[in-house]
Amino acid sequence: MKDLKSKIEQYRKEFEEAVSEVRDSAALQKLRNLYLSRKKGYVAGLMDQLKTLPNEAKRDAGQLINTFKDHIQAELQKLQDTFQKQKKYVKAVDLTLPGTKCYWGAPHPLRVFQEKMEDIFLRMGFSIEDGPEIETDYYNFEALNFPPHHPARDDWDTLYINDDLLLRTHTSPVQIRVMEKKKPPIRIIIPGKVFRKETPDPTHAPMFFQMEGLVVDLGITFADLKGTLDFFLKAMFHNKIKIRFRPSFFPFTEPSAEVDISCTVCNGKKDDCRVCGGTGWVEILGAGMVDPQVLKNVNIDPEKYSGFAFGMGIDRTAMFEYQIPDMRLFYENDLRFIREFSRK
Ligand code: PHE
Repeated sequence: MKDLKSKIEQYRKEFEEAVSEVRDSAALQKLRNLYLSRKKGYVAGLMDQLKTLPNEAKRDAGQLINTFKDHIQAELQKLQDTFQKQKKYVKAVDLTLPGTKCYWGAPHPLRVFQEKMEDIFLRMGFSIEDGPEIETDYYNFEALNFPPHHPARDDWDTLYINDDLLLRTHTSPVQIRVMEKKKPPIRIIIPGKVFRKETPDPTHAPMFFQMEGLVVDLGITFADLKGTLDFFLKAMFHNKIKIRFRPSFFPFTEPSAEVDISCTVCNGKKDDCRVCGGTGWVEILGAGMVDPQVLKNVNIDPEKYSGFAFGMGIDRTAMFEYQIPDMRLFYENDLRFIREFSRK
């Protein structure tokens, strides 16, 4: 019995040492065989020895052997589990596999373009304002000097929610909202979504973006309007472009103008130019001096103050700049298109 006890002690010591040396499954298997092999393993040897003991010693000795066996089995199992986990881990970071492609998000091309426009106005001392996309008839039309049933309203194909609420057809209602709250000097731009009852085609969409501008102060004249737009358009489209003002009509500006720039694609030299249609000019925006009636509507004295306003389509201008043939491409969210414009 004593002999058996010291043998177990000896084996245990050897086992602890051996187990700490095991680095792979092959070594693990070897150790398992050494101790647990049914015929030649150390534990089997101990069992043989057990048989030679007197009956009264067998129970205690058997227990000792079993405890030892359990210990070995548990230790080997632990080691095996560790190897299995490592195997999985090694598979997960197999450096020979091609990497997983990861795309970073990028601003939408229209956003990039809008920010480019904003930056030019911010440099001129403008600040950015915002207003609701669901508007009342008052702000979208009436305060802007469109009387009810006035035919000029027909130029804006309006999506009505009910008799009074509508989706704003232009960013001009924000002019009124700002002038109600702030008194001159006012120098703002208003980028945002607008909505019209349009069937989508290459140059129309039921939702698109506009950028409004408004300046109201003492002594503002048409020369200020011209100078501001001239600076903006040249900064936006390079200094070489020509700019022309054509007389036009908007109920909220008087006089009013539409502004064209020379076609940067063909320079007026191609009769079948897809961008300007051979005219050499591309319409970029509507503008004018704020109508005195509009100033009255927001309690600003038109005898003292004057101002100018302008509005342009962001999508339209971006199409022109990037030579995109179809406006719908902006909204289809085809990543192949969007990524063309991502800032690197
Ligand atoms: N709101 C006009 C439009 O949508 C553009 C405009 C803005 C014209 C400001 C004059 C002054 O067409």
